Amino acid sequence: MRTIDWVDGYPLIVDQTALPDDVRFVSLSTVDAVIDAIRRLAVRGAPALGVTGAMGVALAARLGGDIDGAVRRIRAARPTAVNLARGVDRAAVYLPDGFEAVLAEALAIRDAELIASQEMGRRGAVLVNELAGDHIRVLTHCNTGGLATVEYGTALACVRTLHERGQLAEVLVSETRPLLQGARLTTWELGELGIGHRLIADSAGPFLMARGQVDAVVLGADRICANGDVVNKIGSFMHALGAQAAGIPFVVVAPESTVDMEAKSGSDVDIEERDGSEILGFAGRRTAPRGTVGLNPAFDVTPYALITAVVTDARVVRFDQGDRP
Ligand code: MRU
Repeated sequence: MRTIDWVDGYPLIVDQTALPDDVRFVSLSTVDAVIDAIRRLAVRGAPALGVTGAMGVALAARLGGDIDGAVRRIRAARPTAVNLARGVDRAAVYLPDGFEAVLAEALAIRDAELIASQEMGRRGAVLVNELAGDHIRVLTHCNTGGLATVEYGTALACVRTLHERGQLAEVLVSETRPLLQGARLTTWELGELGIGHRLIADSAGPFLMARGQVDAVVLGADRICANGDVVNKIGSFMHALGAQAAGIPFVVVAPESTVDMEAKSGSDVDIEERDGSEILGFAGRRTAPRGTVGLNPAFDVTPYALITAVVTDARVVRFDQGDRP
């Protein structure tokens, strides 16, 4: 299933906030609708944000009005995944040539991400098999499947390929508080694919690794910095520390479009801080006492020294052997 596409003159997305209960497609008919979908995570995941950003620019070009303002606002809708700004910039280059040229670039980004997913899946599976053997119990965090890309995914494309090769024993899915991308989205995607999995609380990850119940951690990235630091969903750093303590591989799977050589290290990256209300309650119900103040960074930085390897659509970079992006 394509989770983002251009249909009848508009970007069409699967509304990820409605999953797993409803598979609801939403046509984004205005620039404000594109920005709102990005901000409330109706569309999310680094590669999907890149495609949405580019299609948002195409929509702005088609609708007319303050196109430069629209480009600026789409670009700033979320700060951390480099793919969004990059997708917007790539499409905006074609604005002087008119709507059709901008759309062609947005569709080219969509198609390239799709091919990248398949390539990452293949390369990632070969590496994880080499590092962790033939009967692999993978822990993954957040959602890195077709929903986060266009189809297939990044880390989840690797998991899927391992499954297709008969090398996967099970997937432990970390729930990913506070917005539950693991519990709502990854479980749903794995269920659709018929891949065996169990859901764990985020904080159970390092303990299960220490107990010998995980063979490899495989997850995605929102930005890969020049020194090898990886910015990804909050909680990734904790799993990396757990993997190091347990002596198991920690593998990052992400497309080249997520590599940002201008960010020298994780300290150069703007980490999105979301509304504290997201952690003051659960499933629409307040769980913290009234007056409690929330602090809600949406991403963290895993230092390169904790990472075994980064797999992209073009290369395998073995950090454990001294290689860097
Ligand atoms: O806040 P989100 O859900 O957009 O965060 C997404 C992640 O952190 C993913 O792990 C990352 O984008 C890689 S997705 C292929």
